[in-house]
Amino acid sequence: MGLAKRFLKILVMGREDGLRARLRRKMGLDDWFGFHAGERARDRRGVRASGVAQTPLDALPVPEGFSAVLRQDELAPGELVEVMVDSVPVAVCNVDGTYYAVSNVCPHAGGPIGDGTLAGHTVVCPYHGWSFDVRDGRCFVDEALSIDTYEVRVTTEAVCVRLA
Ligand code: FES
Repeated sequence: MGLAKRFLKILVMGREDGLRARLRRKMGLDDWFGFHAGERARDRRGVRASGVAQTPLDALPVPEGFSAVLRQDELAPGELVEVMVDSVPVAVCNVDGTYYAVSNVCPHAGGPIGDGTLAGHTVVCPYHGWSFDVRDGRCFVDEALSIDTYEVRVTTEAVCVRLA
């Protein structure tokens, strides 16, 4: 697939492991769109690509008030991903092995922050390039438009997020 076509696909469909792709899969729309997300290293329903069963994410033990959002090995350093926590879209980032969680909704025009890029502690919205510090949610364009941050705890198996 050419670069322009790949960019257009990401712009319209989101990343293969992004929130929109997961919502499409959940709603069974991939076949309807003729879109297939491709093979993932792990299946969030609890089955590895190899077919070896593992405990489903939502059945893992988590600290009180937290939700398990992904397994540690699902997000490499320097990557970010969109997840849903109690119907709230959250962007989870891995900065050199430390995980951060921020609002996935850009205050500029609602862009999916978790679909953006991560450089150090700075995440850049994919729509118009506004950037934020994932440690405190500070918006580098206008501090008054900073985004929410959420507490993260890492257990032996999962990365967990608490909304309030
Ligand atoms: S929607 Fe995020 S920069 Fe415009």
